[in-house]
Amino acid sequence: MIRKSNLADLKKIKELDELYLDHHLDLSYYQKELENEYLLYLVYEQDKEIIGFFEGSLIDDTLEIYNIVITKEYQRSGKGTEFFKYLINNYPNIKKMILEVRADNLKAINFYKKNDFKQLNIRPSYYPDGMDGLLYVKEIER
Ligand SMILES: CC(C)(COP(=O)(O)OP(=O)(O)OC[C@H]1O[C@@H](n2cnc3c(N)ncnc32)[C@H](O)[C@@H]1OP(=O)(O)O)[C@@H](O)C(=O)NCCC(=O)NCCS
Repeated sequence: MIRKSNLADLKKIKELDELYLDHHLDLSYYQKELENEYLLYLVYEQDKEIIGFFEGSLIDDTLEIYNIVITKEYQRSGKGTEFFKYLINNYPNIKKMILEVRADNLKAINFYKKNDFKQLNIRPSYYPDGMDGLLYVKEIER
């Protein structure tokens, strides 16, 4: 089940963020984010356990995807894709989804391509280690 995140989820989100995305942020950071009206935090809950999360911002008709994680044991079974379905169904004003991904994150690139994202641009050496960032966009047909 996908649902909006609440304060009780933040510890687990932080844990997944560190494990899968190497982000090391204070809990207070996530708390502030939850209060931001433009930010959208979702969790994927299965058998009362959080097995993934989504973070993005929704401004006008554009959803910017910041992070999306599904834990390793549940990957490749359509759960990541369910976040997009949930967003499209529950936020009818979304017309476009955009994101930026490391050029060496082939798993994620394949995942976005499979979900009809098209590469828009490249940000050369965008990351501190010199890796390019790739910008992807998905237009939502309604
Ligand atoms: C990217 C991620 C969210 C995808 O979630 P998922 O639930 O596994 O994705 P789905 O099952 O909905 O989609 C599967 C598709 O994604 C791609 N994919 C997923 N895992 C893959 C892998 N190990 N190798 C290659 N492609 C992969 C494929 O296109 C796959 O389709 P296929 O099985 O028909 O080949 C997940 O792999 C993840 O959490 N990765 C670590 C965090 C991360 O890098 N997030 C993105 C950057 S913010």
